[in-house]
Amino acid sequence: VISLERVKTGIPGFDELIEGGIPKGFNILLVGQPGTGKTSFGLQYLVNGAMNGENGIYVSLDSPNELVKAQARQFGWDVDALEKEGKITFLKIPLDKPKINLFDMLEEEIKAAHAERLVFDSLADFAINIDQFATPLAYTGLTPLWDVKEQATLEADKEYRYETMATLDQDPKGRIFYKGHSEKRVAYLVVQELAKLGTTNMILTDAKDEEHANTVDGVSEYVCDGVVVVYNQLIGAKRVRTMTVLKMRSSDHSKYIHDFEITKEGIKVKPAEEVYK
Ligand SMILES: Nc1ncnc2c1ncn2[C@@H]1O[C@H](COP(=O)(O)OP(=O)(O)OP(=O)(O)O)[C@@H](O)[C@H]1O
Ligand SMILES: [Mg+2]
Repeated sequence: VISLERVKTGIPGFDELIEGGIPKGFNILLVGQPGTGKTSFGLQYLVNGAMNGENGIYVSLDSPNELVKAQARQFGWDVDALEKEGKITFLKIPLDKPKINLFDMLEEEIKAAHAERLVFDSLADFAINIDQFATPLAYTGLTPLWDVKEQATLEADKEYRYETMATLDQDPKGRIFYKGHSEKRVAYLVVQELAKLGTTNMILTDAKDEEHANTVDGVSEYVCDGVVVVYNQLIGAKRVRTMTVLKMRSSDHSKYIHDFEITKEGIKVKPAEEVYK
């Protein structure tokens, strides 16, 4: 058995649930309803990495960098120093500018920062703002992307798309973009593109409902390598934070629901034994 290299999240109680850490290069989806701790989880993953020699990038689509950093400071993490030392890069995607070439931007930032970890906050925000992005199709030239004639030339293909789709574009690297993807297709493509970056990614997204692990797009949970679900369950008159590892490819992961806390020091996951004692 070839052992996988694992990236420790450093989140107390969490790495034990997944055989010591996230397999390097994996896309981990962190799904949860509002306020379930997704951003905190992502920040802690980057801060722990940064303090142990692995640089990271926090990609925020919604919150300004200042807000994200303020949240981290509340946990006592000196993100200002880490940022100054180049160990964490906070990247706010400017959603007011059209045709954002997100993946080229990420590629450049990762290279410049020598980043090994990336947090994407969030996939749901990406889908909501889809019109601002040039959406990558990783177009290779001849692969029919939907029901186009086989062996269609790029030009013929392009015309066909112009006829059928409202907008179509090409980025400097020749990747074809168009608007009008279904939400499923958007999520699928973003996950594919994030996987190509070479970093170990934590992709945050919104849960569709309280009980289930389904994402709003309904597809990212299938295409990501691992899925962690965070809940804020109403039990009696109180909400209790719980999480579960729904899947982790190549890993013998915990199958339990674990209680966790968000304290002044960040997230702490409790072993299942404590819950089921
Ligand atoms: N410093 C802190 N100490 C204790 N609890 C905190 C602290 N900071 C945040 N929390 C708790 O964490 C919750 C929000 O966490 P977080 O922002 O990580 O969730 P989220 O899932 O990213 O939310 P959203 O859906 O808004 O993006 C807060 O509602 C609060 O209950
Ligand atoms: Mg958040």
